Amino acid sequence: MTTGTDHGVGEAVAARIERRWAILSIVIVGVLVGMATFIGIHQATMPQGRVETSDPKTLHLSGEFVESNLGSTLEADGSVTVRAIGQQYSFTPQCIVVPAETPITLRTTSADVVHGLLIEGTNINTMLVPGYVAVLPIRFNAPGEHVMPCQEFCGIGHQGMWGKVKVVDKSAFAKLAAARRRLTCVD
Ligand code: CUA
Repeated sequence: MTTGTDHGVGEAVAARIERRWAILSIVIVGVLVGMATFIGIHQATMPQGRVETSDPKTLHLSGEFVESNLGSTLEADGSVTVRAIGQQYSFTPQCIVVPAETPITLRTTSADVVHGLLIEGTNINTMLVPGYVAVLPIRFNAPGEHVMPCQEFCGIGHQGMWGKVKVVDKSAFAKLAAARRRLTCVD
């Protein structure tokens, strides 16, 4: 049997425990809001961890974006790297050939002004900023063709700046890659 005093003590204990849990949940919410705020401000104010640069003035003379190095290449680990540049008013290569069901890394930059690169039917949509290399991972599940327009106004010939991505069967690509080091579907 409980007396009035016991009852009061029990209530006080319950209230104390409740208050502790309330404080703990406020602290947890506070920590989460703090983390989100920190990450948001940090990302907005700091440069990206890895920014790759290129010099638009010497792009065609040396480095990874010389014309002979553009196109698709099969890497030792089975993945594919595609190098392409945008310039007024075309992409080089104009037609990119890649295999289906393969991890692909797209490395692109601009030789003059800001261009855009969008591959229809995918989530690839980036800006090509002179001086910077845009690096994007892509994967195509099936062979097919995708148009690749420039989606950033870049001058008088902007609306005529289109490229194409041709996705071929994995084994067909391997055969092509065995014959040539850099592949495009233009030649
Ligand atoms: Cu290039 Cu629009």
